[in-house]
Amino acid sequence: MLSSPFSHVPFLLVPFLLLALIYLSVSPNDHFSLRSAFAPCNTNSNAPAQRPGAADVDLRVLLGVLTLPSSYERRALLRLAYKLQPPPTGATVDVRFVFCNVAKEEDAVLVAMEIIAYDDILVLNCTENMNDGKTYDFFSAVPKLFADQVPSYDYVGKVDDDIYYRVSPLADALRSKARRDAYYGFEWPCEPETRPGDERFMVGWGYFVSWDVAAWISETEELRGAAKGAEDMTFSRWLRRGGKGKNMYGEKPSRMYDYLNDGWGEKAACFRHNFTADTVAVHKLKDRRQWARALKFFNATQGLKPSKMYHLDL
Ligand SMILES: *[C@@H]1O[C@H](CO)[C@@H](O)[C@H](O)[C@H]1NC(C)=O
Ligand SMILES: *[C@@H]1O[C@H](CO)[C@@H](O)[C@H](O)[C@H]1NC(C)=O
Ligand SMILES: *[C@@H]1O[C@H](CO)[C@@H](O)[C@H](O)[C@H]1NC(C)=O
Repeated sequence: MLSSPFSHVPFLLVPFLLLALIYLSVSPNDHFSLRSAFAPCNTNSNAPAQRPGAADVDLRVLLGVLTLPSSYERRALLRLAYKLQPPPTGATVDVRFVFCNVAKEEDAVLVAMEIIAYDDILVLNCTENMNDGKTYDFFSAVPKLFADQVPSYDYVGKVDDDIYYRVSPLADALRSKARRDAYYGFEWPCEPETRPGDERFMVGWGYFVSWDVAAWISETEELRGAAKGAEDMTFSRWLRRGGKGKNMYGEKPSRMYDYLNDGWGEKAACFRHNFTADTVAVHKLKDRRQWARALKFFNATQGLKPSKMYHLDL
């Protein structure tokens, strides 16, 4: 009797497993390029991190995707999305998935297997709770977790899991910026003249600071108590109060923006519009179709070779 290989697998896991299969079949033995996109964490070794081609690299970025243990499908999609991007020239962008303590029995097992397979997950010592200090936990943990990495990262970013970064434009944007006291992202308000007097801050879906700023957060214990509330405004207040992140770089709204969902009757605005060719990041990718449209626009499917083995309408 013929039976589906997935017939005993809980329904919700099927998309995740399919993506994992695609991921593996795209590149079953391609450890080198896999490593360059997802270099080892090196958190539990005393040896300094050694990376292929490290000598040509003059910019190192840690991109932390804050997500939840149970978001298996999103992680599988993001791994594919980052793996199939052209790598940045002269830079490494290490993508890590970040969450708090794993509470469920099933998640502990499945996440452990992901770590063995991909080594791209950081589990912080905190409790999952929206807007309740996870940003502080992340920025204060990374300088310690990567303290033995030489050379250290130049920038560390906190990004949501419904955002797609294009790592080459991101690296090119960061390369020209100050390596100290820097704070880069999508600045709000994006039409300053419409909201005079507002505090400026980088919106919470994704921002980067230079490593010295993360080190300062890590050393400034009193920020922990101040971590509640709208985290993106809170974060910018920390920096202002501490006199940090004075090199503030708001990216052009044409290069970082929300996905425009025509189907929902959304109108274009400074923070929301159609895809542009020089995009650094698109936010608000909530479902598979929105992801697919973004990935297609940015040529993620360009590497598909003609074959009698499949036929797809792209
Ligand atoms: C996590 O934090 C708690 C409370 O601060 C502490 O008691 C515990 O030892 C920490 N666990 C780990 C694994 O670091
Ligand atoms: C966005 O692009 C789509 C498809 O190219 C087009 O039909 C639509 O009019 C565009 N929307 C805006 C607001 O420019
Ligand atoms: C995708 O590839 C096409 C064909 O090579 C090219 O014209 C287009 O500019 C590329 N799009 C982006 C966003 O790079």
